[in-house]
Amino acid sequence: MRARWAGPAAAAWLCLGAAHAQSVPVLAPSVEARIEALLARMTLEEKAGQLNLISNEPLNDPGAIRRGEVGAVINFSNAWLAAEADGAARASRLGIPLLVGLDIVHGYRTIFPLPLALAASFDPGLVRRAAAAMARESASAGITWTFAPMADVARDLRWGRVVEGLGEDSWLTGRLTAAQVEGFRDGGLASTLKHFAGYGAVLGGRDYDATFVAPSELHDLHLPPFRAGIRAGADAVMTALTALNGVPTTADAGLMTGILRRQWGFSGLVVADWQAVASLVKHGVARDGAEATRKALAAGVDMDMTSGLYLRHLPDEVRAGRIPEAAVDAAVRRVLRLKFGLGLFERPPIDPAGAESRLLLPETRRIAREAARASLVLLQNREAVLPIDPERVRRIALVGPFADAAWDQVGPHEGNGQPQDTVTILTGLRERAAASGVEVVFAEGCPRVCTERTGFAAAVEAARGADLVVAVMGEPRDRSGEGSSTAYLNWPGLQHDLLAAVAETGKPVALVVFGGRPTELGDAPERAHAMLMAWIPGTEGGPAIAETLFGDVSPSGKLPVSWPRTVGQMPLTYDALPGGRPHLPGSRWTMGYADESPLPLFPFGHGLSYTRFAYGEPEVLTPKVGVGDRYEAVLEVRAPVTNIGPRPGRAVAQLYLGQPVASRSRPKRLLKGAVLLDLASGETGTAHFRIPARDLGYHEPDGTLVVEPGEYRVGIGGDSAGPRMVSFTVETGWRGPPGGDQAQR
Ligand code: NOJ
Repeated sequence: MRARWAGPAAAAWLCLGAAHAQSVPVLAPSVEARIEALLARMTLEEKAGQLNLISNEPLNDPGAIRRGEVGAVINFSNAWLAAEADGAARASRLGIPLLVGLDIVHGYRTIFPLPLALAASFDPGLVRRAAAAMARESASAGITWTFAPMADVARDLRWGRVVEGLGEDSWLTGRLTAAQVEGFRDGGLASTLKHFAGYGAVLGGRDYDATFVAPSELHDLHLPPFRAGIRAGADAVMTALTALNGVPTTADAGLMTGILRRQWGFSGLVVADWQAVASLVKHGVARDGAEATRKALAAGVDMDMTSGLYLRHLPDEVRAGRIPEAAVDAAVRRVLRLKFGLGLFERPPIDPAGAESRLLLPETRRIAREAARASLVLLQNREAVLPIDPERVRRIALVGPFADAAWDQVGPHEGNGQPQDTVTILTGLRERAAASGVEVVFAEGCPRVCTERTGFAAAVEAARGADLVVAVMGEPRDRSGEGSSTAYLNWPGLQHDLLAAVAETGKPVALVVFGGRPTELGDAPERAHAMLMAWIPGTEGGPAIAETLFGDVSPSGKLPVSWPRTVGQMPLTYDALPGGRPHLPGSRWTMGYADESPLPLFPFGHGLSYTRFAYGEPEVLTPKVGVGDRYEAVLEVRAPVTNIGPRPGRAVAQLYLGQPVASRSRPKRLLKGAVLLDLASGETGTAHFRIPARDLGYHEPDGTLVVEPGEYRVGIGGDSAGPRMVSFTVETGWRGPPGGDQAQR
């Protein structure tokens, strides 16, 4: 097995048997031998217990853990609860410790921006550090396993869970999924890639609805981020609650065993999503719990989350000869391997008394603030209203229902996040403004979700008396996350009326757009001079936004999703196929709508800065690439990037690839790389890319990777709409075996 934290835990094990003395180290039996020794002592019930994950519910039988009927828990979300549960497991006959799981999606107590917001940084290093900081904090409270990252590629903003993933693009999702896996490991948590597979394609964006994905699309778009996460060392994979092409993933042997284990060689743990084993009955593929159990285990699902069916049925099913005990043993081995790999058998019991002091540490908050800053996307900035110039702006009117919204800043999937820890935008702005001698007058205008106008007059008055209006408007936390899909993408309540009222004072308006995902902006781009996408920014969102408004940092975030004009455009992604009748404005018989442009309001990859960057012509250093037998061949391209504006700033140089003529129609542009360059005013840097030539390929329905010889195009620029494309040639192509490798479209 792969050595994980081969530090203190491994050393402790080598000395085991002499644990209380510093005497002669004994030769450690291998982990596999220890697993076999445990298995040999386990009853069928104890084996089923290892495959049983329970939630923290009031109705739980308090003796179940002590009887060895539980292998893992979820939602024991503070150190006292975790310590009690794990203590009961250690007191069971075999003393096998628990996996203590929780959804650490964007933090435990210190809340970071949601993953979609973090993705806007386009910065794997930062994403990794953020994940490590979240992991350290949660591990200090006894958590050992997170149900993250979500590697689903989200193609429809109506899907509430778009906020939990890393955007619409497969390459970016894969790159940042891998970074999260690495970060969680750095910080001491086991990770789970979820939801395998296709969940991001739910029909109409409706959570839990069916998914239909053509096999080649599955291999091109949805599977690569999982593969990237597995390569980065993910410990577990979670099924989806959905049925993919008619087969619930929790019963899909082709997916769980065929692709995941056989093609990719994944040897970690497969866990069902919440009650997903029981839901096989509702899906209509199992008559009862016993059949659901048989189907899930046979498909390759090792652990049952919260339906209790494995515990109830596995022993009898094995005794009746309907499930081979070897299949149960194989699943138990995977659970035990993870526990050994995490060092749980060697760890001292959880210490709840000390946990509190390890939460909200200054270093954790510092990384949360850095992450919040890096996620901000400057959508527009007319007349350079931003950054705020304290010479000209002496008083700011701060309005809008999300200016002082601590709980909304925490957002969904909150871990153990608390509103009282949040620094709101109001607090952050007041503090930062005071440092420059600028006054902030706060007049909310309307309370959260903005159903009444009684506060409008005060907001308008504040605007009149100010040099700049900062308006914080958008969506509350409960319009994104699991079970929060929406049919609309508009702002709730009367917020647009409030924006109109303050804008009509004639004072410049900087709009801070709040919410988990892009929303319909209506007339906001005309009303507001500047627009800064703040997402759901977490505990340190207030200072991060204030510092950015004042220009202490220049925004560098880029949209990881296309920003639509209206919900009616859903789904809308930058990597569409060219089509036989590509869109021509004003031309009826080309792709589009009679009543709206088919183009986004802001394209994927868009994001301004307080400075400007000029991208030079890309130079292809490998004008002829041969994939063929030189499978490790790379495409090498570079382009000069110059900061032509007045301030320092970070350029996010994005590399897009296309294959103009192929055996099948391919997207005009696909993101395949991003380089971050910090440049002083006037400075030129080089965006240098080395792209594995296999990334040029696409997949056949069985997963065969095909890189065709012929002409390709590559462009480097600041968003998906802009880059000039230049040609290069692939001289010898490649056909990889199914699962042999994964490229993207
Ligand atoms: C259901 C969600 O789909 C999954 O992502 C999550 O990890 C589990 N609930 C546990 O909270």
